Amino acid sequence: MDTPHAVDNRLHISCPVAVLPRFREDVIAGLSAARKSLPPRYFYDQYGSELFEQICQQPEYYPTRTEAVLLRQRAAELLDLVGACSLVELGSGSSVKTRLLLDEYQRRDSPMHYVPIDISASMLEESARGLIADYPRLSVHGLATDYLSGLAALPPARQRLVLFLGSNLGNFNDGEQAELFGRLATALQPQDYFLLGLDLRKSIPILEAAYNDVAGVTAAFNLNMLRRINREFGANFNLSQFRHLAFYNRDQHQIEMHLQSQLAQEVEIAELGLRVFFAPQETIHTEISRKFDARQVAAQLRPFGFEPCARWTDERAWFLLHLFRFVGR
Ligand code: AVI
Repeated sequence: MDTPHAVDNRLHISCPVAVLPRFREDVIAGLSAARKSLPPRYFYDQYGSELFEQICQQPEYYPTRTEAVLLRQRAAELLDLVGACSLVELGSGSSVKTRLLLDEYQRRDSPMHYVPIDISASMLEESARGLIADYPRLSVHGLATDYLSGLAALPPARQRLVLFLGSNLGNFNDGEQAELFGRLATALQPQDYFLLGLDLRKSIPILEAAYNDVAGVTAAFNLNMLRRINREFGANFNLSQFRHLAFYNRDQHQIEMHLQSQLAQEVEIAELGLRVFFAPQETIHTEISRKFDARQVAAQLRPFGFEPCARWTDERAWFLLHLFRFVGR
């Protein structure tokens, strides 16, 4: 790990070496497979991250708004339960929702310590500076790295509350989920807490509309994956010959996003020495967004030493905040 640098006496940023995702290898493997796919983590270049922020503001994309309302309503109750914890956030981004908890700590005149973990160092530093300016009793130790490397490098704390919001867990497959829960169990101490924000199962038209906004922002977000491959690997994807597809898979309880070729075509990815043939209507699977059943997630966390201790949902039961206590394995 590198040495943390003090940006301010209340703000430290360190960059533990990330378990680097291997974009090149992932593109070659994903586009050479019989069923083509690309991992969703590659959506988030600078433009992709901006598009995601815009998705969160689309009228059809209810998760962000619903979770923010819940956090605002339940912040006092949550902090009554967990007390004065150091807040750790996986994938902190702009930290907008975290402010709802910091506001409540501030009302209690409590000292606050926040450990945001985010792969984007610039985003981390910018949002941390804003927080330091707004909360005089707050200190921040940011970890600019991936979730797993961040969890392995947590600064010491008496008690922690780990936040994993936005239903980000939905983009993980079963293997990735088990790996995250295992690393969390290794990093935490008994009596630490874990707050999960989960998008729940609901009527299919509502789910499908959230991933097919009328303004076309999600479509642009999906297609940006091809733009990124063109830029980074000298590929010649013609974006107008691919279509955004997002639909609910009832058996798997998940939204699936694909990019569908509109015709038979061959794409060259010059820097990877790869030619990829697409049949008409063939797709590249780019994302799963699982929709949850609260009891199932609790059952999956239990073997890792997490016990459910509170849950809060909105009046339509669209989104769930689920609090777990770590009791040790
Ligand atoms: C980040 N993640 C939880 C979003 C989701 O809803 O699965 C990503 C997203 N993809 C399309 N729209 C939003």
